Amino acid sequence: MNLIVTTAQQTLPSIIQQAKDIADKLAVPFVPRNHYSLAALKEKYELNELIVVTTTGPIVHTPAGEYFFHLSMAELRIKNLLNGNHDHMVTAMGLMPDMSVLDCTLGLATDAIVASFVIGEKGMIIGLESSPVITLITSYGLQNFTLDSEPYITKALRRVKVENADYSDQLAALPDNSFDVVYFDPMFRDPILKSSNVNPIRTLANMQPVTPEAISQACRVAKQKVVVKEAAGSSEFARLGMNTTVGGKYSSINYGIIECKPKMAGGGQP
Ligand SMILES: C[S@@+](CC[C@H](N)C(=O)[O-])C[C@H]1O[C@@H](n2cnc3c(N)ncnc32)[C@H](O)[C@@H]1O
Repeated sequence: MNLIVTTAQQTLPSIIQQAKDIADKLAVPFVPRNHYSLAALKEKYELNELIVVTTTGPIVHTPAGEYFFHLSMAELRIKNLLNGNHDHMVTAMGLMPDMSVLDCTLGLATDAIVASFVIGEKGMIIGLESSPVITLITSYGLQNFTLDSEPYITKALRRVKVENADYSDQLAALPDNSFDVVYFDPMFRDPILKSSNVNPIRTLANMQPVTPEAISQACRVAKQKVVVKEAAGSSEFARLGMNTTVGGKYSSINYGIIECKPKMAGGGQP
């Protein structure tokens, strides 16, 4: 990985230690900040990206902007649900309290936080993310970000379990019927650049398309549904064998759904 970890110019010994730990975890160099500007560090080490550990958490500086953990639309979506409004993702997944969800493409965890809120304390949600840097930022935020005014949102964050893994490997290793819902939100084939909250992670993210094999494994692993988010009208839905899509009439996003049945031992259907 062509990356270094540093800190702000004036900082605490505990932050320097945290930066060293992050560098170790990512197997990249820790570079003391000293008097260097970030531009000077980028030039000196010929980098496109670097991580600056601050008192409010790690920040990745990418060519597309700064990337750090934030709630994005999760807070608004949860408040909308509490006000009795509809959330297309929640409807597509058929989410109810106590359900289990495997989010194969965790990213910034906005969708996972909304799902975590709906399935509640007795539900289970695991998010998979193949990019080590995105995993770092998202896990840090899920464990440390606190919304004092809305403790139920903080609790929803803490319940999302994160694994730095490729979903193809994980799905292949999971038993049948392991989760109620398996969810994919891949980097869109035709990105919606102007409105996308994923722009800052574009250079860090895994850009591979979802394969029919992954969908087939997901159908084996899911008891109820496999759901894929894509741009409305995308040919990805047909390519992945998804005939049912839901989404707002004027929304640029749709959710493709495959209904799954619980699998019986021996490979049959009940
Ligand atoms: C569009 S973002 C997901 C955004 C997320 N739903 C949210 O609400 O923040 C897609 C993410 O999936 C990750 N990803 C893509 N392919 C993957 C794979 N095979 N295994 C695990 N993660 C993957 C990318 O690195 C990226 O972070």
